[in-house]
Amino acid sequence: MTVKIFMLGATGFIGGDLLACLEEQYPEYEITCLVRTQDKADIVRAVYPNVKVVLGDNESAEIVERETLNADIVFHSATSADDVPGTTSICKAAAKEKESGRPTYYIHVSGTGLLTYQADKGQPRHGKTYNDWEGLPDLVNFPAEAPHRNVDQIVLEAAKANPATLRTAIVCPPVIYGPGRGPINKRAMITPLTVASMIERGQGYLPTGDAAWHHVHVHDLSDLFIRLIRAAAEGGGRATWNQEGYYLAESERMGWPEYCKAALARVAEAGYISPNDEEVPVWDMQEAVGQVGGLAGIYYSTALGESIRARKLLGWEPKGKSVVHDMVDVIALEAKALGK
Ligand SMILES: NC(=O)c1ccc[n+]([C@@H]2O[C@H](COP(=O)([O-])OP(=O)(O)OC[C@H]3O[C@@H](n4cnc5c(N)ncnc54)[C@H](OP(=O)(O)O)[C@@H]3O)[C@@H](O)[C@H]2O)c1
Repeated sequence: MTVKIFMLGATGFIGGDLLACLEEQYPEYEITCLVRTQDKADIVRAVYPNVKVVLGDNESAEIVERETLNADIVFHSATSADDVPGTTSICKAAAKEKESGRPTYYIHVSGTGLLTYQADKGQPRHGKTYNDWEGLPDLVNFPAEAPHRNVDQIVLEAAKANPATLRTAIVCPPVIYGPGRGPINKRAMITPLTVASMIERGQGYLPTGDAAWHHVHVHDLSDLFIRLIRAAAEGGGRATWNQEGYYLAESERMGWPEYCKAALARVAEAGYISPNDEEVPVWDMQEAVGQVGGLAGIYYSTALGESIRARKLLGWEPKGKSVVHDMVDVIALEAKALGK
């Protein structure tokens, strides 16, 4: 049987890296990508002539439903963590019975922003380290107002209502780093923005507190997706789906002060700031956001969740370069982009 995959987000960092892996490892798969603009569609087609491209966006309900109905596996990373219309269309079509009698597999990308949710004082979730094994009930029962929870809920409810026709896996990455290999966006977010800000300002700062997130290398994340896709192609494999189909995807824990200190040291080594530690200011969140903008808020938040499920069931073993090693390459790229 030819495996048919419908992808949303292939022009982005996460989806692009996965598309590159799929094309390399499974060139026989029939892949259709939803792309928003003609110019990006032309690039995807030029890089991957085998890939079919359809124009549309998350709100193109008719197109998303039609392509979902045509697919065995749907992969969604097109702002998926917060995408209500596209996720709803996928779930609606994927729940329909197919002539083949086989269920549709849906791999949805969420995000561990979910774990930053601070419940009331009686539930000290903030700072807690979650996990996706015995800790699974926590992950699938966050309150509606937690980040990304409204979209997770669309997927989980559709899976619960349609167990015979729909198999879902929600993959929840933390901060993603490393160079993307996709056709268009190859740039991660947090490390490039962190070092670019230091290079541009010629200085950095350290955050107060002891907040921490987990991180994952984008190549390791793609490897996890590939393992899930392979399991789906085998009719489910050793993966768990639906209410037990929730996968955290972490490879390394880092405290933010430690992360910023490492970035400062690497940027100093590269010669873009003075290496004098004593001159580095320590800022609280208000000061940092005021000075460098809203993204600095992440250095004061905690999102910790250990991925046990993918390791145990899928044999997933992250192998990517460490966060700190990756910084060296990112500094060179960001400095070049800034004309330094
Ligand atoms: N990057 C991370 O560190 C990280 C970590 C955890 C979770 N996530 C989640 O993963 C998702 C993707 O992240 P990413 O890093 O791949 O982002 P990205 O590089 O910005 O890619 C976003 C993708 O979504 C597409 N897109 C945006 N709005 C769309 C719309 N209305 N309809 C259809 N497509 C649309 C973009 O298409 P265009 O090329 O046309 O813009 C692009 O393909 C996000 O939901 C994010 O919250 C990311």
